[in-house]
This record gives sequence, structure tokens and C-alpha cells, in this order.
Amino acid sequence: MTVHRGHIFHIAGSPLVTEAVANLAHYQDGALVVDDKGVITWCGSWSELPAEFATATTVDHHGAFLLPGFVDTHMHFPQVWCGDSYGGGQLLEWLNNCIFPSESKLQDRGYAKAAAVEWVDRMIAAGTTNGLIFGSAFPHAQDFLFEEARDRGLRIVAGRGIQTTGPDSGHLLMTSEADAIRLTREEIEKWHPLDAEERRHALQFVAIVPRFSLSVTPTTLAALGDLYDEYRDKGVYFTSHLNENARPGTGEIDSTKAVYQVDSYLDTYDGKFLPGSKVGGKTLLGPRSVMAHSVHCTDAELARMAETGTSIAHCPVSQLFLGSGTLPWKRTVASGVNIAIGSDWGAGDEWFIPQVLNSCFKVHISERQPVGIDPYPSDDQSLSLHPAELLFTGTLAGARALALEDRTGNFDIGKEADFVVLDPSKWDMYDQTLTRMHQSDDPTTRRDAFLFAVIMLAREKALTETYVRGRKLETSTGPK
Ligand code: GUN
Ligand code: ZN
Repeated sequence: MTVHRGHIFHIAGSPLVTEAVANLAHYQDGALVVDDKGVITWCGSWSELPAEFATATTVDHHGAFLLPGFVDTHMHFPQVWCGDSYGGGQLLEWLNNCIFPSESKLQDRGYAKAAAVEWVDRMIAAGTTNGLIFGSAFPHAQDFLFEEARDRGLRIVAGRGIQTTGPDSGHLLMTSEADAIRLTREEIEKWHPLDAEERRHALQFVAIVPRFSLSVTPTTLAALGDLYDEYRDKGVYFTSHLNENARPGTGEIDSTKAVYQVDSYLDTYDGKFLPGSKVGGKTLLGPRSVMAHSVHCTDAELARMAETGTSIAHCPVSQLFLGSGTLPWKRTVASGVNIAIGSDWGAGDEWFIPQVLNSCFKVHISERQPVGIDPYPSDDQSLSLHPAELLFTGTLAGARALALEDRTGNFDIGKEADFVVLDPSKWDMYDQTLTRMHQSDDPTTRRDAFLFAVIMLAREKALTETYVRGRKLETSTGPK
């Protein structure tokens, strides 16, 4: 039994984002009690620590914050060294000019191994205890990624990126349709915990990951629907991109609709990928399905995602980086779809989830619909996300998107202890601000402003420790 003593914030219970504020738990001098299996047995104020834990080993994180581990629901492993990519345009140019050639480099085993080591290092260094990862097309690279995550005790959900069609620049990433299905099945059989008991304790899982509809064909989607149906009840995941780039005519959304002749982009993942949105196969949507971006969804698409329990990985840094626009927060929340956060590393240039949440705050306070000459149109969508909503989106909403909310995402008793330590003494500006900032006389305002500063001003250098299931993780060069 270990007691971690520090300044604790988490979103308790199982609220919706609209209920996050009411569920914000805050213990300025707090205690998080973790048993030898890494399970949380108590969380509260140090002064109220039950006597039964008084003799437990105490780790005093004096002056530091303890937050639930960050959950990044959208990131690209083969883009580990692509954060700087300038594609001379938006999504499709960037993919063609930078990303397909860069991802092809993982064909080399040595490069792929180094990429996997670096990838897991970066997640641990950023306090990302759980990630839904778009994988490499190359099975050896996926093996390196899963081995590295397993050996270091990191939670991941990952799957090889599937491409069966597309431009020449991606030719090394493409396979035949038969090979795409075979390789995906082999990855599931090798790395996914197929046994229910094993699954209850597993940290690594597999997802089926067609890159996006433009990278596959109707027959690939039909075969993937059959494959997913075979493994759905074994907890296999599905993820892809949806409604990211709305450039008229030549952008991703219009191109997808033109190629498939469907009414809506979501239909292609929902079994309705034949012309006129006719049913051609089984749906890929469901409670373990995560659609990245979903910036430009119709009401019907949002309703269908809500109905099927599909989540959204909201990636505001990437949407700024690639000029993809802004997810309409109020409308998306109102639809009932769970919104989790994603760095979209590779298109996003930021690993550290508090900084992605920082961008999330900024893009939504800047939301205007429609964009016009009047900076304050009558249907102004600007909103000031509450810091509890930001914390929710970066932690519990991610656990929900990955159907792991019963095991992780907050500090409720019985959950596995995934948490990070943010130590302001490691960064003077952070420390000084938190010490000297104006403190309201009202305790709720004081708490909220403080959490806002803890999230918005955090930088990776203040992240000193990352724990998964009670175990402190190390980078390949040792403790951070
Ligand atoms: N759509 C298809 N592939 C990608 C990718 O690698 N990144 C992003 N952001 N969108 C995509
Ligand atoms: Zn992406």
C-alpha cells in the first residue's frame, strides 16, 4: 500500500461533460492511496486519511499536483518525427508531400525500432498514460510498438494503418485487399487479449484502422466490416478520420462524397458505402469506435454517432495546424456524442495534453458562426470552457471513448491508479504564477481559477512522473 500525498484534482464519478463542474474533486493537501496491485483504495484530504492507511509508505509529492493520466485518443505512431512537416497546403497536400513518404521510412526495421522507442518515451514524458494510436502499415513496426509499450507498462490501443488505394506517394504503405485483411487479422490474433479474463487486466489492445475512406475501397470496407463483426465482442476497437477538411471541391470531404457517391461521409464507415448510401456491408461504428476530427458533421451524422456510442477525438492543435476549421462545441455536445481530446501528433505539433487543452480553450472562446465581417454575429458560438470541462475532456472522456471508464480516467475507488505528477518547482514561471496569482475570496472561484492556471500554463518540463496502474514508468534513458 502506498499513499501519494499532493495537490489533487480529478473529475469524480461518471458525469457528462456538462456535469463535469459539479463532479470536480479538489484536495489541496490530498492523499491517493494505491494498493500493491495498483488499484485505488482511497482518495481524499490528507487530514481525513483513514487510520488503516496510517502505516502505509508515503510518497510526499510536496507542492506538486496529482492529476489523472492524460488520455490521447488520436495520434500517429509513424509520424513520430513529422511534427515539423510543411506540406505546402492543407490535409491532402500535406499527406501526399510529407506524410506518405515519411511513414514509408518505417519499412526499415532499424528506423522502425528507433521510432517505437522514441514514441513510447514521448508518451511517458508527456504524461499520456493511454493512447489510441494510428499505427504503421508495416507489421514489424507494429510489433516494435506493442513490445515497447508492454515492456514499459504503458496503456495503448493501436492498429496498423490500412491503405489499399491512393496516390503514388503512398505506394509503399498500400497492400492488396486480401493482404490488408490478413495482416489486420494477424495483428489482432497476436496482440489483442482475446480471452475475456486476460482482457480485464490487459494494458495493450488492437484497433482496426483504415486510414480514411479515401485510402480504401468499398470492397475493403465490406471486408473490414466482416472482420470487425468477428472480433467486436472481443473488445477490438475501430478508428479512422471523419469530416476533417472541408475545402470545396478538392478537399477531403467533397472528394470522399465524389468517390463513393454517398450522402454523408459517415455513411462510408456505417456500412452504407455504395452509391446513394446504399447498404453494402456491416457498420464499423459502436462504443469502441472513435472518429478523429469530426469538425464538419451534419446533425444526422452526430445523431448516428450518439446512437451507436461512437466517440469523437477532438484535435484542436491539428485543426489549427492544417487549417481544418473548428469543431462546433455547443452543437456537438448537444448531440450527446462523447468528445475526447487528441493531439493528432504528426499533424498536431504538441504531445502534451494540457497544451492541447489550452488550444481547445482558445479555439472555442474564438468560435464564431458564421465567420463574417461582424465579429459578434447574433449566433455567436463563443464559449469559455470551464477548467473542469477541460480536465474531463483530457482524462475521463478519453477513458470513456476507449470503453475503459470502469478501469481508469479518474481517482474513484476501485480504479487502476493512472496518474501524473506536475511539479511547478521545475518551471519557475509556472511556480511564480501559481504562488502569486490573484486569489478570489470566493472559494469556488479561487479553485476554478487555480485549476485553469494549472492546466493552461502547464508545460511538459513540469511533468515529473507518470504512473500506470500504480507503477512509475521510465523513459528509455531512465527516470524523467
Ligand atoms: N487523414 C488521413 N490521414 C491522416 C493523417 O495522417 N492525419 C490527419 N490529420 N488526417 C488524416
Ligand atoms: Zn490523424
